[in-house]
Order: sequence, then C-alpha cells, then structure tokens
Amino acid sequence: MGIIARLATVATVLAGRGLTAPASAKDQYCDTSSGVCYSEVTVGVAPITWRIAIPAVGEGPFDVLLQIVAPKTVGWAGLAWGGGMLYNPISIGWANGNSTVGSSAHIQPDYYEAANHTVLKGSTVNETHWTLTTLCQGCSTWIHNGGSKEILDPGATAASFAYAASAIPPIDITDPGSPIGIHSEHGIFTIDLSAAKSTQFDSWVARLR
Ligand code: HEM
Ligand SMILES: *[C@@H]1O[C@H](CO)[C@@H](O)[C@H](O)[C@H]1NC(C)=O
Ligand SMILES: *[C@@H]1O[C@H](CO)[C@@H](O)[C@H](O)[C@H]1NC(C)=O
Ligand SMILES: *[C@@H]1O[C@H](CO)[C@@H](O)[C@H](O)[C@H]1NC(C)=O
Repeated sequence: MGIIARLATVATVLAGRGLTAPASAKDQYCDTSSGVCYSEVTVGVAPITWRIAIPAVGEGPFDVLLQIVAPKTVGWAGLAWGGGMLYNPISIGWANGNSTVGSSAHIQPDYYEAANHTVLKGSTVNETHWTLTTLCQGCSTWIHNGGSKEILDPGATAASFAYAASAIPPIDITDPGSPIGIHSEHGIFTIDLSAAKSTQFDSWVARLR
C-alpha cells in the first residue's frame, strides 16, 4: 500500500476516533513576550501543541519557525513536513534538563537533504512542560524517495503534516543526533499555513536568535 493510501487510512481511523483537529484561521497564537504569531494545533494523547510561522512568500521553499509545547511526560515529539514518516524532513524536539534540543531526521532509507534546526529563545522547561522554539532551514522542500521534488505551498489553508511522540526520551538527550525509539503515538493534522505567514518573519527570527 502506498504512503498516501496508508495515510488516508490513518486519517480515517483518527477521524473516526475524533483525534484530528480541524484547522481554521482562529487557530492562531501570539506569544506575548516575543510578539511572534503562529498558526497552532493541539493534538494527540499527551496532548502536544504545534505552532508554525512562515515568511510572507508566494511560493516555497522558505524557512519555518516551529514551536513544540509538550508535557514533560513526552520524551520526544516530531513533526514530519511531508505528512508521513518516510522520505521527508522531520523536526524532532525533547527536553534536556532545563533546556530543549531540536533535531533533524529523515528516517530510512537515506538521508537526502540537510535540513537544520537552530534552537532559539523561547525554548524552555518548567514544572509541567517543555517548549522548543526552533528555526528549520530545509524543512519546506525535499526529494520524495529519489523521485519528485516536493515544496510546501505557503498558501495552503489546510497543510497536512504527520506527528509522532514517545514517552521514552532519546538515548543521549544532550546529542541532537541521538537515536530515538519508535513512537507510542502518531497521527496527522492540518494547519493553516497561509494564516501562519508574516512580513515580520525575518525580524522575529533575528529577535529570537
Ligand atoms: C519524528 C519521528 C516520526 C514520525 C513523525 C513518525 C510518523 C509515523 C506515521 C505517521 C506512521 C504511520 C503512517 C506511515 O506508515 O507513514 C508511522 C508508522 C511507523 N513508524 Fe514512525 N514516525 C517517526 C519515527 C519513527 C521511528 C524513530 C521509528 C522506529 C524506530 C518509527 C517506526 C514506525 C513503524 C514501525 C511504523 C509502522 C507501524 C506502525 O503503524 O506503528 N517511526 N510513523
Ligand atoms: C532547573 O530549573 C529549576 C527551577 O526552574 C531549578 O531548581 C533547577 O536547579 C534547574 N536545574 C538545572 C540542571 O539547571
Ligand atoms: C509551563 O509552560 C507551559 C507551556 O508554555 C504553560 O502552559 C504553563 O502555564 C507553564 N507552567 C508554569 C507553572 O509556568
Ligand atoms: C541550513 O540549511 C539551509 C537550507 O538547506 C542551508 O542554506 C544552510 O546553509 C544550512 N545551514 C547550516 C548551518 O548548515
């Protein structure tokens, strides 16, 4: 079964359990201390909040600001930019003491492109949650399994992404390249990328560095 078909199955199953979150322009979050506004969605068992901001561009590729807010019971959480586990860039985050770690992956079969993550201000750990705020360069375009070049559409009002999480932290939480184990939950969600656009994107990134 192809990846699209499998994802469609996952979507159907999740929708049946009421686990998918609808995206709408209302799902916006502005951080009062930094001023950064994101499109956001909160999903899953934990649950985990995913926030995305992008520059005001007409087409990709583009850099993305990603914020992950997860309960401390979450050992790692990852977002797959192409909507499935394989053949697309993945952003993974986890807590390391009082700070957080951002990492790139492209799970099997090959690492084909260097997506990189810069951990920014607003990456914190408190009594209950860890928050990763990161700039990903290289997450909005990739080669799908040696085939077609994929580029995210910044105008998409319901861009489809996959996420996964596990209660078990990576083997070496100090190492962004640490191996991680399999997820205990995974799913897909949509998010309004067009509402995540801002002309202030570059100044936000500069402020958060
Ligand atoms: C951030 C990282 C990850 C994400 C976002 C993710 C996402 C997903 C998704 C959406 C599926 C179901 C659809 C599909 O097959 O494409 C899936 C299945 C699967 N994933 Fe992952 N995954 C991640 C990491 C991993 C890792 C590290 C492993 C193994 C160590 C793994 C092993 C599996 C396996 C074995 C399946 C198929 C069996 C199942 O349904 O559980 N994944 N993953
Ligand atoms: C982490 O922060 C808490 C308070 O927020 C503090 O008590 C603790 O010492 C810090 N731990 C480290 C390793 O810095
Ligand atoms: C910890 O951080 C989370 C996520 O930002 C926030 O919702 C929560 O209110 C914070 N808790 C405390 C005690 O500051
Ligand atoms: C990060 O990735 C982008 C896009 O692929 C690339 O232009 C940039 O040079 C990379 N930066 C580092 C420090 O690797």
